[in-house]
Amino acid sequence: MTASNIPRRDFLAASGAALGAMLPLSARRDPFSGFPDWSSTIGGPAATAADRMAWWREARFGMFIHFGLYSVLGGEWGGKTNYGEWIRNNAKIPIDEYDKMLGRFNPIEFNANRIAKMAADAGMKYLVITTKHHDGFCLWPTKQTEWCVRNTPYKQDIMRAVADACRAHGVKPCWYHSIMDWHHPDYLPRRDWEKDTRPDTGAQFDRFVQYLHAEVEELLTQYGEMGVIWFDGEWEGTWSQELGASLLEHCHKVSPNTLVNSRVSKQPANGLEAKLSKPALGDFGTPEQKIPDRGLPGVDWESCITMNQNWGYNKADKDFKSLPKLVEMLIETSSKGGNLLLNIGPTGTGAVPPESVDRLAGLHDWMKVHGEAIHGTEASPFEGAAFRATRKGKRLNVFLPEWPAQGELLLPGVTATPTKVRLLGGANRSLPARGTEQGLVVTLPAARSNAVCSVLSLDMPTAVPTAY
Ligand code: GLC
Repeated sequence: MTASNIPRRDFLAASGAALGAMLPLSARRDPFSGFPDWSSTIGGPAATAADRMAWWREARFGMFIHFGLYSVLGGEWGGKTNYGEWIRNNAKIPIDEYDKMLGRFNPIEFNANRIAKMAADAGMKYLVITTKHHDGFCLWPTKQTEWCVRNTPYKQDIMRAVADACRAHGVKPCWYHSIMDWHHPDYLPRRDWEKDTRPDTGAQFDRFVQYLHAEVEELLTQYGEMGVIWFDGEWEGTWSQELGASLLEHCHKVSPNTLVNSRVSKQPANGLEAKLSKPALGDFGTPEQKIPDRGLPGVDWESCITMNQNWGYNKADKDFKSLPKLVEMLIETSSKGGNLLLNIGPTGTGAVPPESVDRLAGLHDWMKVHGEAIHGTEASPFEGAAFRATRKGKRLNVFLPEWPAQGELLLPGVTATPTKVRLLGGANRSLPARGTEQGLVVTLPAARSNAVCSVLSLDMPTAVPTAY
């Protein structure tokens, strides 16, 4: 038997001594991301860092799902309606009171199959769902705590349903997992507002770390190979770079090919720069609710963005982004070389809000025609142009949310003559294009090909350069 045909768990057992010991932090770095190249320390069935990242770089678009006990409250507490997944902290709900939520969690409308299909149809290639948010509640029947779905009327393993449904629809299942935990007795610090009512006497943070490792091990070994484990809540004073490094090692020991986001690192909570500050651990950076102005050259990154204002379900929040805005965000991330992780927050009964269903359907319509200009593409070769673009081998894609004046489009600096120029979803004949001193000028038909955003696709004679 070679390493490659031994099932993963057996391989790990067989390699016991080497893998059981603490692995040194890799000295090698992935040349693309600059993050540590773990493949060099794991060996065996692990792919190289570039191979491990390949599906994720190709994907460009994923679904984020924030779902948990807080979803049942729909953002409302004590007459206020502006809460989300932080409700226990922000509304200062005492732990005994919040514990009663267990009896109210029965999301009978949660349909993992339908959600995974909506994601796949919208062109989302992976799906990241909360396994545990900051309130500590686990959505799978973990052996590590009673504060989990097993003790709710629902009882069922949500992680199992999601992992299976995703695989059935060709979507990579991925886990979000909060490091910060407002429920575990050993987690420190206590919230300021509950220090008196919930003293930290006897709490031992190192026991919490063991608990965290055990939970992560369940999540990475019980549901097949996971695409990503996406940590969060790393900014508290108790988390350190050493703890981040050891958690990362643990993830790679139990599941060498699962990607880990950079929030496993200790990072101060001061915005985008902090989320990406180096040296960071993990495979990719996670700008939140924003798309970096000029992308992040040399770093793999994924912008996570909500469809409305909240991550978790908030019944009063109707401030949903329009379909053209969502398409524009997807184009912007792709054209800057990053991924978009677009969030939905199912209701307490597990239903996807109708506004999100509508937008996912709209994304489906747009992506089924234009997805080839997003998936597997790289950043725009145009610096400072008035339009966004992506490239993939010899293919150049130019996005046209507005129709250019006079029906002509100048592609500055392009000197080569394309072999074919067409609008995706439009007629198959090649559009006229002529070389000028400033670059290539394409003559467009009178009518736009898509109401949301048309895509001009050019087949160039050789690979499109990284910059024109
Ligand atoms: C923040 C929030 C959290 C949300 C996350 C998504 O860190 O604390 O509620 O899950 O962002 O990126």
